[in-house]
Amino acid sequence: MDTNRLSKAITDILNNQVKKEAEAAQIYLSYATWADSEGYAGVANLLFRHSGEERDHMMKVIDYIQERGGRAKVTALSAPPKDPKNLQECFEKIFQHEVDNTNAIYEIVSLSHDEKDWATWNFGQWFVKEQIEEETLVMDLLDKLKIAGGAKATSESLLYLDSKIGQQDDDADLARDASVESPQ
Ligand code: FEO
Repeated sequence: MDTNRLSKAITDILNNQVKKEAEAAQIYLSYATWADSEGYAGVANLLFRHSGEERDHMMKVIDYIQERGGRAKVTALSAPPKDPKNLQECFEKIFQHEVDNTNAIYEIVSLSHDEKDWATWNFGQWFVKEQIEEETLVMDLLDKLKIAGGAKATSESLLYLDSKIGQQDDDADLARDASVESPQ
């Protein structure tokens, strides 16, 4: 008896996401080692931790495929991009990467909607919310860098920024949790 509850198209798009999340972990890992070499220990710490989060995302997708009777695929990964020139470029590239990943998640949700695969649609909603958080987190990094002076930031302000980033939470505050008493 075939107990696979996933269509071929859904299995393929989910397996593609397994690869994307694994590659995201490698990207963050690579940027973390770059930041550490440049002396940005706080930024490196955040990026190392985030690499672990991306592995968790990969695991969630693998687990979901298997749970629904499909077979998750573990494949070769693309090499991470070359080192950024500076912190500004590092954060901009990460932001673009997260936007690309959001679009990939939207494709999964969209296909599951077309197929009326409500289990996968429901599973995808966790990632939709997670991507809002991830984009917000990186937007916040870009905002902080802008306030520190952007490309013209002094060594002192970058040092201060780096120590602050190293201590910040991994999760961003979202609009859905805001109230008049507690705006975000
Ligand atoms: Fe797994 Fe940064 O999204």
